[in-house]
Amino acid sequence: MVIKKIAVLFSGSGSNLEKILENVHCKIFSTCKIEIACLICNKKDAYGIQRAKKYGLETTIIEHINYDDRESFDKKMVEIIKKSGAELVVLAGFMRILTPEFTKNVNAINLHPSLLPLFKGAHAIEESYNSDMKVGGISIHYVSEELDGGEIIEQECFKKEDGMTLEEFRAKIHALEHKLLPKTIVDILDKN
Ligand code: GRF
Repeated sequence: MVIKKIAVLFSGSGSNLEKILENVHCKIFSTCKIEIACLICNKKDAYGIQRAKKYGLETTIIEHINYDDRESFDKKMVEIIKKSGAELVVLAGFMRILTPEFTKNVNAINLHPSLLPLFKGAHAIEESYNSDMKVGGISIHYVSEELDGGEIIEQECFKKEDGMTLEEFRAKIHALEHKLLPKTIVDILDKN
């Protein structure tokens, strides 16, 4: 059985990480078994660290505040990822801007809570909720040097119902993310 290893990077709650743990980690698919070989978080109090522990996985905490610049922080992450043997890096709520030190050295995908190329950046949910658009949505894309700008792999959308609150809109986004991210990881890796 071919084992394909992934790295997951996160910064916060880790609800998407939990879905990967539940639906992808150590599961056997048609052509391979997928394993999380490496977990990296840049915030020592992130709840995702506890979620990983439930599955017996330790998270490497790399706090960007301990590095002089973005490049040295990225270099450290790449070193750890390479050592783990991960062939795909999944950014699941990893809230750092990455430099070419990272983007040129690993194959990574990112989850973003809007229909790219609209609403790039850290306030995508609020901005798409407040826009005139009649739909909201999510994107998964390859990570490139341009923030939220790499090739789009998958997108899903939903209708913004009249009177929908921001919290309802946010919940809908997360529900879509929790299904699409695990599925996309499997679609990318489970190939001959
Ligand atoms: C998700 O909405 C993702 O799109 C964004 O950050 C959030 C992470 O949520 N980049 P969680 O930490 O997985 O719960």
